[in-house]
Amino acid sequence: MSAVLEIKGLNKAFGGIRVADEINLSLHAGRVLGLIGPNGAGKTSLFNLVCGVVKPDSGEVFLDGAPLAGLKTFERARLGLARTWQNIRLFPSLSVLDNVLIGANDYPGTKLTNVLFRPGMVRAAAYRNLEKAHGILARCGLSDTHDKLVSDLPYGRQKLVGVARALMSDAKCLLLDEPMAGVEGHSYAAIQAVVREVAASGIAVGVVEHNVAFVRDLCDEGVFMFSGKILARGAVADLISDRQLTELYFGT
Ligand SMILES: Nc1ncnc2c1ncn2[C@@H]1O[C@H](COP(=O)(O)OP(=O)(O)O)[C@@H](O)[C@H]1O
Ligand SMILES: [Mg+2]
Repeated sequence: MSAVLEIKGLNKAFGGIRVADEINLSLHAGRVLGLIGPNGAGKTSLFNLVCGVVKPDSGEVFLDGAPLAGLKTFERARLGLARTWQNIRLFPSLSVLDNVLIGANDYPGTKLTNVLFRPGMVRAAAYRNLEKAHGILARCGLSDTHDKLVSDLPYGRQKLVGVARALMSDAKCLLLDEPMAGVEGHSYAAIQAVVREVAASGIAVGVVEHNVAFVRDLCDEGVFMFSGKILARGAVADLISDRQLTELYFGT
């Protein structure tokens, strides 16, 4: 099975802190990989390296076999790499629908020459995006909130909007950074269901999450990170019941 996302020999240090230490990892279509490990292990940094937010000291990342080196974050997004952020990062003064629309890659209306000389094409794309955004909102159970200010939504639903925005980009690979942090009740089940559905549709999913039950129930496989290294990989249930790893996790 060929990998959708392949990380080869990735290294990164900030001063004396190694956040990625010879990371080799692949994510496959239709599968969910969980990344677990204590705070400061380098999980978010790994997502930042993959998405081009941070430049590696060495190593390579491939999406569908194509090297991503030198590409900017938005160029990687256009190729099918989507992520959500640990601290949400939505536009609080925009509606839910507009926040989701921002995730679209196909936006010919942002070019003045298109607006002037190809208005039909611009309108058609805007309509397509609108239809698609409403479809995604429905999938995420957010249809009733589409015209609300995103900042008026409870925290859990805001996280769901972050996932909806990521889906807008036609991702081949979706990276979720702590989707469940601060989320409970109805939104918890909704996020879980959406991530399952996304994977079932053939997208490769990577999830960083401290909620052990969530990771265990959702992920096909897990890796345990510590000090920028992958210390173990396997079934999540095995990783979280391993005594040595648990001691590292809780710092005892
Ligand atoms: N841009 C940066 N500059 C300096 N240090 C950073 C930067 N980003 C992350 N770090 C440090 O790298 C380590 C790993 O952080 P992070 O990847 O956020 O861990 P995790 O997501 O596993 O909690 C931490 O010690 C953090 O302070
Ligand atoms: Mg983090």
